[in-house]
Amino acid sequence: MVEFSAIEKDEWVLTPEGTEIAKLGSHEARVFDAIPEGSEGISISDLAAKLGPSAKIGQGKAFQNKWVSKQGDKLVRMVPSITDTTKIQILEIQKNKTHEDPSVLKDLKRRKLIDKVKVLSYSAKKGVNFSTVIEKQETDLTVEMLQSGSWKTEKFKEYNFDAAGLPTKGGYLHPLLKVREEFQQIFFDMGFEEMPTYHYVDSSFWNFDALFIPQQHPARDLQDTFFIKDPAKAEELPECYKAVQKIHESGGFGSIGYRHKWSYEEAQKLVLRTHTTAVTGYVLYHLAQKLKPNPFKPIKMFSIDRVFRNESVDATHLAEFHQVEGIIADKDINLGSLISFMDTFFGKMGIKNLQFKPTYNPYTEPSMEIFSWHEGFGKWVEIGNSGLFRPELLRPLGVDPGVRVMGFGLSLERPTMIKYGIDNIRALVGHKVDLNMVERNPMCRLEKESSSRAFQHDF
Ligand code: PHE
Repeated sequence: MVEFSAIEKDEWVLTPEGTEIAKLGSHEARVFDAIPEGSEGISISDLAAKLGPSAKIGQGKAFQNKWVSKQGDKLVRMVPSITDTTKIQILEIQKNKTHEDPSVLKDLKRRKLIDKVKVLSYSAKKGVNFSTVIEKQETDLTVEMLQSGSWKTEKFKEYNFDAAGLPTKGGYLHPLLKVREEFQQIFFDMGFEEMPTYHYVDSSFWNFDALFIPQQHPARDLQDTFFIKDPAKAEELPECYKAVQKIHESGGFGSIGYRHKWSYEEAQKLVLRTHTTAVTGYVLYHLAQKLKPNPFKPIKMFSIDRVFRNESVDATHLAEFHQVEGIIADKDINLGSLISFMDTFFGKMGIKNLQFKPTYNPYTEPSMEIFSWHEGFGKWVEIGNSGLFRPELLRPLGVDPGVRVMGFGLSLERPTMIKYGIDNIRALVGHKVDLNMVERNPMCRLEKESSSRAFQHDF
């Protein structure tokens, strides 16, 4: 629209001394003017008193120009009148910013009366596309343009490869991660260590057999568990499988076992773990191995990670979710310790008045479901499952006979959905998750209690 160019030009400007001369005349002219007409003249000291510094600076040039001469100790005029060429030149430069005679410029510059400066100015004039209306240029080639052929005449905006682009946004934590961090913090506050839950695939042995879940248990059906096709089997089972086999087939440690034939191949089958208790059994076994020959050390451990179940998917169930699991191993643990611990643990999240209901898990006895009163729903809702691990689980894994282990598990999704008011699991996990929800949702702050009701057990 506009043709535009920069013009760089040298210009001459007056120095402060030059400006003074433009106003008052050159020093030599001022000397001439200060001398009265006639032969009487003026003494040098009177001249200096009258003119100040100009008297001294102007004399030489006034002599040189033969304007004045010295008679006795007086200065007198030699000509009736003078032309102050310096002032004329200076005025011309002040007006025109230059002078046609380069030697004048050179001379005045040497005398520090003028100075050269560079001046940048711009020329702007109407270009070939000049217009007083702004036509919006197209920024995208659309299907419609291709179909109508209008792309041929459309004016497209040029790419600006130097554009800085939109500022990138920072990452945002998913609500599940925020709640997970809160749980982690509660566990750490209570002195728990985190278990290594980094693999999703585990053997049936760790997921079921080591936990005294019989090989015919319905949970091991295809309908409930995802089995891995390739590879389908774990290479070999740990040494403790023999003790596990024995407890299943013929019992021990006061148990009569399941009295069925236990299959090694069945235990080798790889599955997507259905609960984090698979890792808990593994951790207990390796801890017992490490502690040998010293058989005992109290421990508190937790895990929060993903598990998978072959369930029909609906508004509150997905084929995968996260479990929060904790175990405490010590001497003298009993049902009271478990109830007291649960009160403290859930109390740290602001959940009080728990109710416990007896339930059945193959690996815990006694077992209890944990319920909490939900104000919104106006009913008791199940928030967790817990129990004391059976000797049929502990002893084959090498845990010392005097040690009892209590454990509990809950889902991470349920408290997250309650906390963030999400009623459909698909809004929280999967391809329908609204990224704006992730970006906007606030930080998670479970109402943690101070340690006033500290854990009763003195480990
Ligand atoms: N594994 C149990 C579940 O999946 C939770 C649990 C863990 C129960 C430890 C008792 C002890 O629900």
